[in-house]
Amino acid sequence: MRKPVIAIDGYSSTGKSSISKIIAHQLGIVHLDTGALYRGITYFAIKNCISENGQINLENLFQRFHEITLQFKQVEDELTVLLNGTDISKEIRTNEVSQQVSLIARQKEVRDFLLEKQRKIAADGGVIMDGRDIGTIILPNADYKFFLTASIDERTKRRFLELQKLGIETDEETVRKNLIERDKIDSEREVAPLKKANDAIVIDNTNLTKKETIDLILSHIAGF
Ligand code: DC
Repeated sequence: MRKPVIAIDGYSSTGKSSISKIIAHQLGIVHLDTGALYRGITYFAIKNCISENGQINLENLFQRFHEITLQFKQVEDELTVLLNGTDISKEIRTNEVSQQVSLIARQKEVRDFLLEKQRKIAADGGVIMDGRDIGTIILPNADYKFFLTASIDERTKRRFLELQKLGIETDEETVRKNLIERDKIDSEREVAPLKKANDAIVIDNTNLTKKETIDLILSHIAGF
């Protein structure tokens, strides 16, 4: 029996990834956190493509795509991200990466590089993919599409707690600024902007627990 293809898009820190992970587990399908791919490329660029002025040299990055292999590996209950075989799961969550990732994610070359990789993973069905352009560009024929949103206060609180748990030092104001800035760049960019697909179901989970959001999504896909 073919398993469903589910697209989850939405604003930063609406719980897309952690919710998708649990749903994948419950349905016995694969979870792909596409934000981790953009973060992985950003991490590579910070390590390898900084020019003398301290900025990322984009041309240099584009020429070095062939040096980048990103993989996901399930370790116990966690999906770890490997860059050329090295676990970078924690490194890709730092403020430094968060501050640069939208610049990287808005480059057409980067999006083209990742497009087919993402589609290939979904080709046989049985996947839940979360990101910004999954329902609109990557998987326009997904069986189910959801668009998650929540207030900026709630999202700041969630991201701050998440970073604290990872042992990454920061403060709420920095987190809030970064979320606002990223949402702006992600929504306004020319290539594959953050946008609700016409046929996506919108879920505002400001006042919902993670479990309530999951149950709501599952109620829509019951009976597939
Ligand atoms: O979901 P996240 O916060 O880890 O995503 C990191 C950044 O990557 C986010 O600011 C936008 C970008 N991104 C994107 O442009 N397209 C996706 N499909 C996923 C993430």
